[in-house]
Amino acid sequence: MHYFQYKNSELYVEEIPVRHLAKKIGTPLYIYSYNTLVRHYKAYEKAFEAIPHIICFALKANSNSAILKLLSNQGCGADVVSGGELFKALNCGIPSDKIVYAGVGKTEEEIKFALKSKILMFNVESENELIEIDRIAGKMKTQAPIALRINPDIDPKTHPYISTGLKKHKFGIPIEKALDSYKLATQLKNIKIVGVHKHIGSQITEVAPYVDALKRILLLVDNLIKQDILIRYLDIGGGLGITYKEETPPLPSNLAKGILPLLSKHNLTLVLEPGRSIVGNAGILITKVLYLKESGEKNFIIVDAGMNDLIRPSIYGAYHEIIPIKEKAEDTIVADIVGPICESGDFLAKDRQIRKVKQGEYLAVMSAGAYGFTMSSNYNSRPKAAEVLVKDDKFAVIRKRESYKDLIKGEIIPDFL
Ligand code: LLP
Repeated sequence: MHYFQYKNSELYVEEIPVRHLAKKIGTPLYIYSYNTLVRHYKAYEKAFEAIPHIICFALKANSNSAILKLLSNQGCGADVVSGGELFKALNCGIPSDKIVYAGVGKTEEEIKFALKSKILMFNVESENELIEIDRIAGKMKTQAPIALRINPDIDPKTHPYISTGLKKHKFGIPIEKALDSYKLATQLKNIKIVGVHKHIGSQITEVAPYVDALKRILLLVDNLIKQDILIRYLDIGGGLGITYKEETPPLPSNLAKGILPLLSKHNLTLVLEPGRSIVGNAGILITKVLYLKESGEKNFIIVDAGMNDLIRPSIYGAYHEIIPIKEKAEDTIVADIVGPICESGDFLAKDRQIRKVKQGEYLAVMSAGAYGFTMSSNYNSRPKAAEVLVKDDKFAVIRKRESYKDLIKGEIIPDFL
């Protein structure tokens, strides 16, 4: 069952016509499908049911509180990378013992907050950080549960900006140094080694890089066992891709089929950190056509969503399918679909074939649920878009559209002006 589809030539999300929501709430508008989110989460649960596991949703993909609450209700944990994400996860009822915390630059305040919250583990990215966590845990008279994030030097064959597991990247500890770093951890008395972590990149469309990386990590785990360093949690990160255009990424079940056989001899709890594959194809961005323009040899469709609402096309050259919400048999044109921001890099699509649309029509930018709203900004002093969650024939606004007043909230004009 696909929850985003045309019925009588009108695009629906579940049982609600998109037009209805766009008219009522305005545009730009993010719309998410409840049933798609649940289905994607359950696909992970089912795929890995054969072994102990925790699915920790990567909040960076989408951290709207309603979506976190929905996932928390399903039993989901969280992968966080900042104090803010930790706050949001806890606030929506995600149990602290299902929260893992990665990121190369954790601050003292953030480390304290995570220790106080009793998270499952820190995914530690350097020896320096390990020593700092030990110091802070000592001051707080507690022990910090940690995994070391190991960089297995595997090419996930994805966009260079979202590939993270190669030697040249800033992430993790190089695999050749891992044993030494674990030995260091055993000497720090406020550190408790509980796991090993890796994450090699995002939008990965094959199982092979996971298998290769895991083989390397398991060799390390075996070496650790020989040194009496016991690992309980094996965190393999996130990164499964989705279909934006013609990709055919593995499903969670394909991933499970590839990696579970490798784990049969180990007594480990598997941790996964999916983001995009849960929420990416569960959300769309609706935008209105403001103007049509021909300039030089190009057609431009100027819409009311810009790079501040969805920055992926601008910074990664990412492809998002864009479809009119009304299906019509009409001629197509080739056009750049651009936003109102004063930058040439402000586009949602380049040289895109699309049916001739009219001023005032609505377009749906597909696969926008991950790294859409979370990467949005107020650039050009544009209020952030509203977000809506649809469940069957019901909907709820889960984030109000920002107002002009919101734009100056927190700004202070000093007395000397
Ligand atoms: N775990 C760690 C440690 C990560 O760094 C990431 C993503 C994830 C999990 C989740 O990965 P996912 O399952 O969503 O692929 N802004 C980029 C994506 C950046 C991903 C960063 N790390 C984009 O829009 O494509």
